[in-house]
Amino acid sequence: MDLQLKMITFALFLLLVSSSATAQFGVFDISKYGAVPNGDITQALTNAWSDACASTTPGKVVISRGIYNLKQIEFKGPCMALLRFKLMEQFKHHKTQNGRGANAWTQNNCAKNKSCKKLSMNFGFGFLNNTIVRDITSKDNKYFHVSVLGCNNITFTNFKIVAPTTSPNTDGIHIGRSTHVNIDNTNIATGDDCISLGDGSKQITVLNVTCGPGHGTSVGSLGKYPNEERVEDFFVRNCILNNSDNGVRIKTWPDTPETITVTGMHFKDIKMINVKNPIIIDQEYCP
Ligand SMILES: *[C@@H]1O[C@H](CO)[C@@H](O)[C@H](O)[C@H]1NC(C)=O
Ligand SMILES: *[C@@H]1O[C@H](CO)[C@@H](O)[C@H](O)[C@H]1NC(C)=O
Ligand SMILES: *[C@@H]1O[C@H](CO)[C@@H](O)[C@H](O)[C@H]1NC(C)=O
Ligand SMILES: *[C@@H]1O[C@H](CO)[C@@H](O)[C@H](O)[C@H]1NC(C)=O
Ligand SMILES: *[C@@H]1O[C@H](CO)[C@@H](O)[C@H](O)[C@H]1NC(C)=O
Repeated sequence: MDLQLKMITFALFLLLVSSSATAQFGVFDISKYGAVPNGDITQALTNAWSDACASTTPGKVVISRGIYNLKQIEFKGPCMALLRFKLMEQFKHHKTQNGRGANAWTQNNCAKNKSCKKLSMNFGFGFLNNTIVRDITSKDNKYFHVSVLGCNNITFTNFKIVAPTTSPNTDGIHIGRSTHVNIDNTNIATGDDCISLGDGSKQITVLNVTCGPGHGTSVGSLGKYPNEERVEDFFVRNCILNNSDNGVRIKTWPDTPETITVTGMHFKDIKMINVKNPIIIDQEYCP
């Protein structure tokens, strides 16, 4: 995977936050670990992260302005103290993670080929507690933009997602086996579901999100695999679905066991503009 992480210079708002916080947060700046603009920062970032994670006082990993190349990277915990991860930016431009998907989409044949090659996602958040992700743009991903798995209390705010309507399986935010996930003030334009809930998603709140183009919000598909967990309490409020295939959808496979239930679905104040199927509940999903 060859990701390009593009960071344009910094926002006043974030600077204020950071200046008040520098007192308590130890700074782990990747430039001190050998990162240079236009270079590959995979190693520098890995090293900065492991030092920050091992620190017993709160730490902040900082990536200053510039365009960098980044290969697939995994940030592993558990960490010793509170951690902040910060991309510096200016003038309210978004930080952009460009997955360079255009070539990969043409090779995606997963609809026809069950053993197809799984393409990489832009962001994976796994087994995190009490986390906030803000002010990021994920662009032209190869596969799911964001996957959230096994998390508890994670908030995405102002997280912009951009990919063309023709890109397959580029789900915006896919959530599975997670509790208390909030997505707010976010714009998602992609080729597949804007937000999708896999099994074991509980207490998911979506507020002020614009979706489109895309396939809307989707619960499921559920019931394809053994040992799936139920989905409960999904709140979607003040959202706009604009030029999307579907609005709100729940889809389960024909032989879904009765133990996999979907309860507490709340959809309120949703504006649908040019949506082909505003509400779908499909209990015989079989693409
Ligand atoms: C399915 O995808 C795999 C992995 O890319 C490939 O090796 C295999 O040839 C593909 N099968 C078909 C029928 O296209
Ligand atoms: C997250 O919280 C759960 C439940 O309290 C706990 O078992 C788990 O170890 C926590 N994970 C991390 C990474 O702190
Ligand atoms: C959720 O996480 C946020 C950010 O760390 C924290 O401020 C908040 O107290 C957490 N909420 C709960 C119920 O633990
Ligand atoms: C809704 O989200 C957009 C960003 O997508 C933001 O500009 C706007 O201020 C938000 N509206 C409210 C009422 O928070
Ligand atoms: C809907 O999308 C169209 C084009 O994609 C855009 O011009 C229009 O402003 C959008 N409407 C809303 C309410 O977001």
